[in-house]
Amino acid sequence: MRHLIVPEDLSAAEVEAVFAVSRDLQEKFTAGRRDALLPGRVLALVFEKPSLRTRVSFQTAMTHLGGASLFLGEDTGFASSRESIADFGRVLGGYVDAIVCRSKSHDTICQLAEVAGVPVINGLSDQSHPCQALADVYTLRQHVGRVQGLTLTFVGDGNNVARSLATVCGILGMRFVLAAPRAYQFDAGFRRHLAAILPGAEIEETTDPVAAVTGAAAVYTDVWASMGQEKERAERQKALAAYQVNEALMAHCPDAVFMHCLPARRGEEVTDGVIDGPQSVVLAQAANRMHVQKGLLAWLLGQA
Ligand code: CP
Ligand code: NVA
Repeated sequence: MRHLIVPEDLSAAEVEAVFAVSRDLQEKFTAGRRDALLPGRVLALVFEKPSLRTRVSFQTAMTHLGGASLFLGEDTGFASSRESIADFGRVLGGYVDAIVCRSKSHDTICQLAEVAGVPVINGLSDQSHPCQALADVYTLRQHVGRVQGLTLTFVGDGNNVARSLATVCGILGMRFVLAAPRAYQFDAGFRRHLAAILPGAEIEETTDPVAAVTGAAAVYTDVWASMGQEKERAERQKALAAYQVNEALMAHCPDAVFMHCLPARRGEEVTDGVIDGPQSVVLAQAANRMHVQKGLLAWLLGQA
């Protein structure tokens, strides 16, 4: 039983296998074709937090693939006093072929994967957003032609998206640089984990955003306060103010693409001029969520 809880659940060869299916399905989609690779299969989406991209891209992907999807929000009582995660997961796994879970706690997704008996995909946790990172490197390759040996610089909070990008970059032989104040860089436990699973990967951290973006193929940012951190918003705005991705910063890397997972807080981590500017590929990233997740679903359900 294969799951995608963190990016390192896939090897480099497996990421490439997923991308190959994604590319094929994207070309067919662009030509107006929908290949029903998963007829009769059902995907459940169990979400504890809001979502536009992850929810809609997975649901449309299943429809295009000839299957069906069920969105299960808070009224199903997941991870609440209504019933245990184990009971919920075992029951749900008896009905559906795969589950996407977006949870407040990473451990909840791990617990679900242990009991569900069907593949579980992390649709975002406080620690990781693997589907986003896969779509991001897929997008970068489409725009630049390759990824190996290139640098992706993440400017801002070393959050769930940054952690997943660092891991995917390490898996695929890209250099990853995080530019953030020390308090918002990766914690020691995650750094040790990366060193253990990806020895030799070029993953660096700095407090200097200008040095970090110079020579980068991609500059990436995300909100300064993630879902669940709303109370820290004012404190984070102050601490991260010098890490805004604006026209002055992008002038140090005129050949780089600008990336953001969205949703964005315009005027905070990124200016309108950058996110709507000529270097931005944010809409391609969002569109590619669907194409890459089609590849992932077809690949994962083919393994099950
Ligand atoms: N990027 C992303 O995961 O967006 P949603 O929160 O809208 O799903
Ligand atoms: N870091 C953000 C990503 C949203 C897609 C969050 O967790 O809220």
